[in-house]
Amino acid sequence: MEIDIQPIGTDQYEDAMRVLAASFGEDFDPKEEKEVYGPIFEAGRMWGAFDRGQMIGAAADTEFELTVPGGMVSTSGVHAVAVLPTHRRRGVMRALLRRQTDESRDVGRSLSYLWASEGAIYQHVGYGTGTLAAVFEIDRQHTAFVRPVEPTGRMRLVDREEALKVLPGIYDRVRPTRPGMVSQPDVWWEEIYRHSEHHRQGAGPLFFAVHESPEGADGYVAYRVKDDWTDGVPDQTLKMQELVAATDDAYAELWRYCFNVDLVRHVKGWKRPADEPLLHMLAEPRALRFQVRDGAWLRIIDLPAALEARRFAVDGMLRLDVRDEFCPWNEGRWVLQGGPDGASCRRSDGEPDLILGTEELASMYLGAVRPSVLARAGRIEERTDGAIQRADAMFDADVAPWCPHVF
Ligand SMILES: CC(C)(COP(=O)(O)OP(=O)(O)OC[C@H]1O[C@@H](n2cnc3c(N)ncnc32)[C@H](O)[C@@H]1OP(=O)(O)O)[C@@H](O)C(=O)NCCC(=O)NCCS
Repeated sequence: MEIDIQPIGTDQYEDAMRVLAASFGEDFDPKEEKEVYGPIFEAGRMWGAFDRGQMIGAAADTEFELTVPGGMVSTSGVHAVAVLPTHRRRGVMRALLRRQTDESRDVGRSLSYLWASEGAIYQHVGYGTGTLAAVFEIDRQHTAFVRPVEPTGRMRLVDREEALKVLPGIYDRVRPTRPGMVSQPDVWWEEIYRHSEHHRQGAGPLFFAVHESPEGADGYVAYRVKDDWTDGVPDQTLKMQELVAATDDAYAELWRYCFNVDLVRHVKGWKRPADEPLLHMLAEPRALRFQVRDGAWLRIIDLPAALEARRFAVDGMLRLDVRDEFCPWNEGRWVLQGGPDGASCRRSDGEPDLILGTEELASMYLGAVRPSVLARAGRIEERTDGAIQRADAMFDADVAPWCPHVF
């Protein structure tokens, strides 16, 4: 099978939407989707995979600024990856990501970042768990707090138009403080807060509640309500899309708000940070049914550039022997010297302290997984005593990395 990978333009977006619909088994109107996704594709890059002139696969990326410990890194946010069921498991996705990765490297992006439909897929091309994400579901009758949460500031419901003006500012205030968050161009905000049936998944429209303190708007929650009346008794579910707070007061008040929406019996959501303070605010933390899973996936495209772009919690040196089949330029021995003021990463001839793949380095990079946990999982080999401990100390992050938006 001869597969041709080509960049695609506006006139082919509708074909790409057809490939996406058939690959995800979804029923969306390619024309309508093109209207929303067209500007997103245009703001980034898109490739099609063609078999005898017919598009059978697609992939896209957009440049984001990714917050990493101590800095920001130009990153390819990968999305719209799909291959028709007629052409699966013959290397089409691999060929698309080959092109996407090579072109990202050419323009100096040292990382790729994505949300995976299935966790197993992208490890085949060197992605690791860049962030963890938690799901939760709580019955409203178990939402008592250990310490009273006193109302602070005021809550205000805003419509979508105002949300698109106010929420990005709050998000951008939090973004530099939280590794894993990405800059979101305007076209993405439009998509995130869409009202289509596909986005609603049987629930109602999005509501936007903003927390305001005397200093201004400092937190928000976006949610839908799924209507249900069991035997005439209100049994609704508040489905949280995202809750972002720039202060602890706003954070507490936003949760209190969610737990007090009338007629709602259950509050649920996903892609919450692994270090969610709410767990420790509740009198019955178990009732939150908090489960941590893989979140956004990260690929290190340019190893020395990526490592030099972040800061390390303590000064230290590590000699790494890195495997990377998909990006062979990362392979081999490196010496990393890093600390709170900067880092350098150079080729090395010396014996390694640690042997690992770029997937493992990606899982450590933002602070999602401690190197010692990866070693215990059989994913990192320690060659020098104490090296794993040193890696734990160096890669330690103040807060758990978190990606609140699916892109
Ligand atoms: C996921 C998808 C894009 C894979 O496309 P594909 O062309 O079949 O993938 P490839 O043949 O290039 O596979 C590349 C590697 O990934 C592996 N792989 C692909 N899909 C996988 C899956 N769902 N689970 C586990 N491994 C998978 C392959 O086995 C192969 O491994 P190898 O090269 O190490 O032997 C395609 O199955 C699809 O469109 N799925 C539905 C939509 C979707 O989930 N898209 C991803 C959105 S994030």
